[in-house]
Amino acid sequence: MEKHKINGISFTAGVWPAPANRMTLIFIHGSGETSLLWDAQVAALAAEYNTLALDLPGHGESDGPGMDTVADYANAIMAFVQKAGLANLVPCGLSIGGAIVQQMLLGHADKLQAGILVSTGARLRVMPQIFETIEKDYQQFVAMSRLFAASPKTPATLLDPLMEVTARCDPAVTAGDFRACDRFDVMARLGEITRPVLIISAEDDQLTPPKYSDFLEKNIARAVRCRITGAGHVVPVEKPHEVTRAIDAFLESLASL
Ligand code: COA
Repeated sequence: MEKHKINGISFTAGVWPAPANRMTLIFIHGSGETSLLWDAQVAALAAEYNTLALDLPGHGESDGPGMDTVADYANAIMAFVQKAGLANLVPCGLSIGGAIVQQMLLGHADKLQAGILVSTGARLRVMPQIFETIEKDYQQFVAMSRLFAASPKTPATLLDPLMEVTARCDPAVTAGDFRACDRFDVMARLGEITRPVLIISAEDDQLTPPKYSDFLEKNIARAVRCRITGAGHVVPVEKPHEVTRAIDAFLESLASL
């Protein structure tokens, strides 16, 4: 997909420049990844909505450096959307991307119409083994994440493009992402979220199990839940149509939430 760059942030878009009268979905990837995670949704939803998938600072084709707090990433995205002149925003993030969306819902709600949280949680402690393996042998970490990232039911080849972009990420940037996750904890603050929120969880997610989404659903006032079966953490790649349908149905229903 063709990439654009504003304020040092590289992104793909379904239609660019984005028509001013439509809702704008901002897709945010997981640790060590790029906009590629959301290619299917950027394309499939482009007829109805503005769809943009970002490379976080330090990732893909965005300028560096990477960051190691969720709040810093959220501020970088808010600076980007302001510079790009985007409005009617609905951020949609996976894992650390979902943590960034929660941070935006807490700190910048006036700029958002809603939020979408995919394979994430209000607290994201990270296994020490992840930090140790990144430090010791980054390609071994990539091989390990292949085992954790998807459902055993997902054909291995479906993951190849995502694993290739992760393998190309600077190990220090990936480590910073996981440090940001490890520090993230808004479990006590979810009651402050007032916008409608779609929560998508996948049955076989080992990194952010459905239990984390149960907590989000219980504690966010205007939450809608979608459970996807036969998929793991990287559900937008494993079950692209199901994720697209859930997002579309949620956005269609926004007026009544
Ligand atoms: N939502 C709801 N409950 C949560 C939660 C969330 N986001 N995060 C943690 N909890 C729960 C845990 O399930 C646990 O409950 P329990 O005591 O009933 O079992 C409790 O809070 C404490 O868990 P946690 O804060 O994670 O600390 P821990 O020392 O028990 O475990 C890890 C630390 C790293 C082993 C664990 O968090 C883990 O397995 N994480 C998933 C794997 C991973 O690294 N994911 C990467 C995320 S980016």
